[in-house]
Amino acid sequence: MHYEFFVEGGDFSKAGTASSELKNVLKQLNVDSGIIRRTVVALYEAEVNVVAHAYEGTIKVDLSPEEIKIVIEDKGPGISDINLAMQEGYSTASAKVREMGFGAGMGIPNIKNNTDKFNISSVVGESTRLEIINYLQ
Ligand SMILES: Nc1ncnc2c1ncn2[C@@H]1O[C@H](COP(=O)(O)OP(=O)(O)OP(=O)(O)O)[C@@H](O)[C@H]1O
Ligand SMILES: [Mg+2]
Repeated sequence: MHYEFFVEGGDFSKAGTASSELKNVLKQLNVDSGIIRRTVVALYEAEVNVVAHAYEGTIKVDLSPEEIKIVIEDKGPGISDINLAMQEGYSTASAKVREMGFGAGMGIPNIKNNTDKFNISSVVGESTRLEIINYLQ
C-alpha cells in the first residue's frame, strides 16, 4: 500500500497532520502498538523539520508485510553538515520556530532512536531527503 502527504513549510497549524493520519492507518491494519508509536514519533519529527526548516515537502509511505518505508523529501536550504545535525542539541531554528516550542535540537536524534534504518541526504541550497524504515516483524 502506498500513501502520500504534502507538507507546507512554515505552517505550524498543520504540522503533525501526516503523522496522525498514518497513525490511524497503522491502527486499522492492527500493526503492533510499539511499532506504531516509534514510526509516528519519527515521522512527526521529520514533518516538523520540513515545516520549521524548509519551504515544502512530500511524504511517501510504502507499507508491505515486512516493513514501513517512509521517504520525506523537501525543497529548502538543505543541511550542510549532516553529522552535526544528527547531534543532540544542535539547532539552527529561528526565533519564530523557538517561540513555537521547537528548536531543542532533538528531532533528528529522536528519529534515529525510533527507526530501524535511517538515512539523510541533502543537496545544500536545494533539498533534503530522509529515508526511514521500520520492520514489522
Ligand atoms: N528538512 C530540513 N531542512 C534543512 N535543515 C534541516 C532539516 N531538518 C533538520 N535540519 C537542520 O538540522 C538541525 C537539527 O534538526 P533537529 O530536528 O534535530 O533539531 P531542531 O529541528 O532544530 O529542533 P527540535 O527538532 O528539537 O525542535 C536543524 O536545526 C536544522 O539546522
Ligand atoms: Mg526538528
